[in-house]
Formats: sequence, C-alpha cells, structure tokens
Amino acid sequence: MCYAIPGKVEAINANIVTVDYFGEKKKAFNEFVEISVGDYIYAQGGYVITKISPREAQESLSAWKELFFKLKEIDEKKSRFSPSVRLSGNKVVAIFNKIKKKLTLEREELRYLLGLKDPEELEIFFKAANSLRQKYHSNSCCVHGIIEISNNCRRNCLYCGISTWNKNIPRYRMSKEEILVSVGEAVEKYGFKALVLQSAEDNDYSIEELADIIKSIKQRYAVLIFISFGEIGLDGLKKLYAAGSRGLLMRFETSNPEIYAKLHPGYDLQNRIDHLKFAYQLGYLIITGSLIGLPEQTNEDIINDIHLARQLNAEMLSFGPFLSHPETPLANSPLPKEEDILKVIALARFAGQENAKILVTTGFETLSPRARERGLACGANSVMLNVTPLKYRPLYSIYPQRAHEQEPLELQIKETITLLKSLGRAPTDLSVNKNA
Ligand code: 5AD
Repeated sequence: MCYAIPGKVEAINANIVTVDYFGEKKKAFNEFVEISVGDYIYAQGGYVITKISPREAQESLSAWKELFFKLKEIDEKKSRFSPSVRLSGNKVVAIFNKIKKKLTLEREELRYLLGLKDPEELEIFFKAANSLRQKYHSNSCCVHGIIEISNNCRRNCLYCGISTWNKNIPRYRMSKEEILVSVGEAVEKYGFKALVLQSAEDNDYSIEELADIIKSIKQRYAVLIFISFGEIGLDGLKKLYAAGSRGLLMRFETSNPEIYAKLHPGYDLQNRIDHLKFAYQLGYLIITGSLIGLPEQTNEDIINDIHLARQLNAEMLSFGPFLSHPETPLANSPLPKEEDILKVIALARFAGQENAKILVTTGFETLSPRARERGLACGANSVMLNVTPLKYRPLYSIYPQRAHEQEPLELQIKETITLLKSLGRAPTDLSVNKNA
C-alpha cells in the first residue's frame, strides 16, 4: 500500500515544481531531489519526497486511476450538504452560509455552535463541516506514521502518564539503530511518506544525537520527517531543521495561561508558543492544537485554542480529549464525551484556516471506537498510525489503554484503508506547499 499517488513533473521554477495528478495541478517545493520536467515523483506535505521510475509510476497510476475517481465520487455524494427550505431560518445554516461567503464568524456564533445540544442541530453542524472539508481538501486523507522513540521524561505535566509523576512504568529509549530499523520498515515495507518522531522530553538525547539520527534517516530513506521532542529550544529547532526535519508536532495544550501554569508547574505557555512561532518562521510545517476536557477549561478557552492554532499557521490541527491517567494527580478527572470532541473538530473546520488538515487523534480513538468514522465525517481528514515497535507501545502510556496499542502495523493499515475506502477517502496527501 502506498500513501502517495505518483505525480508527473510539468514545470520547474527554481524550487517550485508543478505536478500533475490525473489532470489536477498542484505545487510542491523541492529541496532534496534531482528532477527534470517529465519525471515522476512522490510528494507529501507539499514537499517533493522522491523520484520514481516511469515504470513504477505507471504501475501505481494504473492501479490508482479508476479508484481515484470512484472514491472522489463516493465522497462527493456523502458530503453533499444542501439544506432544505425548512432550514432556511436555521442559525447553523446561516453561520455556514457566512463561511461560504468568506465572512469572519463572530465569537457569539462560535459559542453558539460549541454549545449545541439538540441532535438535529448537531447533525446539521457536522454535515456542514464535512461539506467544507470536502470543498477545501476533496477526498484526500493524510495517513502519517508516528514512532515514539523514548518515554523518558523529565517534565511534571499533571495530566500525563509518562511524566515524572508516574513511578510505576519502566522507561525506555530506542537506540539510533532501532529507530532506523523502524523508519526503514515504515518507509520501505509499508510505503509511509511522512513520519513523526516523538519523544518524551528526554535529557538523554542531545540535540546533536537527534540531528545525527535525522540526517541518517534522510540519507537512507525518502520520507518527510516531523519532530515532536517538546521544548528543545529555538537553537535546537534550527539544528534539527538543518538536519533535514521539515515538520513540528507540538500541541500548545491549552491557550489559557493560567490553566497551563497549573498543569505544568514551573513552565510557561509563552515559551511553547515561541517555539511554534519560531518553527514556522524557519519553514517547519506545524501540527498543533490542545487538549479538550481539562479541569477548569471552558468553551471560551476552546474557542481561544482554535484561534491560537490559526495564528500559529497550523498545517494540521490536533485537538484530542484529555484522558485521565491513574498514576497522575488528575487521576479522577472525568472523561469528555464523544460529542464534545466532534464539536471541536467541526468548529475547527468552521473557524480554523480553511486549508488546515484536521487529525482524528489516537486519544479520540481511545475514547470512542467510532472516533475515526465520526471524526472524518464532521470535518477531519487525517489519521496517524502507530509505527512504534510493539514491545514499546504499552510503555508510552500518556493515557491508559491507548487505541492500537496491541495492533501490528499491517493490521492498522488494513483497517484504515478499508474504512477510508468505505467513506470515499483516498489515503493521499496532495497538499500544496505554502511557499509555492
Ligand atoms: N490524555 C490525553 N492526551 C495526553 N497527552 C499527554 N497526556 C495525555 C492525557 N492524559 C498528549 C499531550 C501531548 C501529547 C504527546 O500527548 O497533548 O502533547
């Protein structure tokens, strides 16, 4: 299975490449690959990732061609939203119409949407968000992989099961060789084109070591690397960009500085935001967002979270439930409801950047077995698969019993593809580079 469709290079203008996908033209940025007009390439996240032979491209394209248009058609049908006259006075429909006219929504409107309880109104809201997703992204669904390379954390986040609060889990740290083997398998055996390397904030890896790991990955494998190592300092971000990483996954966790300070004793929200801003300036693709259902968090905070993610130029939004962990001070916090998360996804689709991808998080999948299906049907268009070696997965216990903890990668891929096909989604990423 492949997570990108081969595209044909139509034009090259300095670093900007025009790529043709079955007649659709997209712009990608090329820094790493030697290519000429007429070549076939794979792109991901708006970056040219690798060149492939015409034979390989033709094989893949003929397998894709029919499916590509069939899936699009299914998705178009499923996401069509044309409210009946009966709904002409409906407030959700009125708000949706404002978005279609490119008008900015009022705060009171966002408040209204987040406060919805009536099932019929909620259904209108979710359907409207899904139709916006289809309008901006067509049927593409990003399928990234994530490798959790260490659970060795020095931070004391009150909600997190791998923080220093948890004295009862063995700590692990993958070696460079283990990481390279996992990346190699994900890229070469399973066809991943984008991978997140995630680690607890771990004193054991120096920036130089991380840079060396990223350089070795880039030398051996054609893959877009996102880093997610926490607050590594602005200089660290610079060094890891120079080493070849091009994306940063870092949630700001909450936009409310008081809640942030309570949950992260001794740490400051501004430092995290500074990292995200600086990373964007350096050229990183940004994945960010917050936790939903934190103690004392209000709907106003959640609206601010969506605004903040927008200000941070997120390429992908990651809003997921806070799931209490027994070995932390917040062990007894209640779980959010499935509907709460769906509302945030739909609201992010209404009020986030129009071209932002929205993730169905593993946390949400842990909260609800229907998370993917429902999340993808109310504005989301991305999923992440867990590529961490099976023996380490239960130890990366940020919250208990994470979804896919026991599932081999092959099974995760099979189930993901089956679901995406049933929804008319294609596991491809034809996104346009922001610099193009
Ligand atoms: N519930 C949900 N998400 C959590 N994270 C950490 N602890 C929890 C929890 N108990 C998330 C944080 C962090 C990411 C790596 O894991 O948002 O950014």
